[in-house]
Amino acid sequence: THHEKMLIVQRVGAKQNVGLIKLNRPKAHNALCTPLMKEMQTAVKEFEEDDKIGAIVITGSEKIFAAGADIKEMVVKDFATIYTGKDHFLDEWKTIAECKKPIIAAVNGFCLGGGCELVMACDIIYAGHHAQFGQPEINIGTVPGAGGSQRLTHAVGKSLAMEMVLTGNRIDAETALRAGLVSKVYPAKEVLAKAIELGEKIGEQSPLIVQMCKEAVNSAYELTLKEGLHFERRLFHATFSTHDRKEGMSAFVEKRKPKRSLD
Ligand code: CAA
Repeated sequence: THHEKMLIVQRVGAKQNVGLIKLNRPKAHNALCTPLMKEMQTAVKEFEEDDKIGAIVITGSEKIFAAGADIKEMVVKDFATIYTGKDHFLDEWKTIAECKKPIIAAVNGFCLGGGCELVMACDIIYAGHHAQFGQPEINIGTVPGAGGSQRLTHAVGKSLAMEMVLTGNRIDAETALRAGLVSKVYPAKEVLAKAIELGEKIGEQSPLIVQMCKEAVNSAYELTLKEGLHFERRLFHATFSTHDRKEGMSAFVEKRKPKRSLD
């Protein structure tokens, strides 16, 4: 039924400071239907507003991440409805890219179409050895609709992105690593634990400075180099108005550990 929960949402890590969102719609290969994405939006926003949470991890199962947007939901839609935005189709998706806290994707198995687009909207991707990434929309007569032609091209360059989008051909974890789509590859059983560890490590940092770092790196995708460098320099200047910058530098000079953030 549509009341069934499609996500498992938990706090994890030794300090319970990592928010875990696990896709749990196994019957449809975790297809990202609107009810699932609405749950995702709620979960991400709750973690974003929770001061105890330092980072978020999104994962699927050990067998599959997600087979894309829900084709059974899309098959009946028409141009006018989705173009005008009357049914708000895909509106929830922007929550991931707009989240101020770092989101790490831990990927096993198929990560296709909207699944690949979802993880590319995250900040860091860890992949299991058997992960497969692809944008197979062309095979069902459409084009990637949630960033697949844009973020993939930024991540892996034109030639590989074009090949994937024009054919639907998938790439494996090693290729994704070489191309720069993912930052680490681990055995399937370890990838989630590694992602959580990474989230815990980020969670040790000043939340204020983490947010600035995330904003700075993301700017590299959205601004010209000149604008990006200017923005980065201004953020750097801004850190000098924070307690955490003063504490961080003082602790280094005094050869001690910095105290927990106060900002
Ligand atoms: N949407 C809805 N249901 C899906 C689905 C999807 N994207 N992918 C799989 N399913 C369902 C199947 O319909 C099937 O359900 P039933 O048993 O009720 O028929 C169940 O999940 C299992 O799927 P398969 O029998 O196909 O499993 P398989 O192991 O043989 O193949 C697969 C796995 C290669 C992932 C294959 O399911 C597949 O190709 N899926 C579609 C991939 C795809 O085209 N994704 C892009 C979607 S479009 C998109 O994402 C738009 C966008 O950019 C926003």
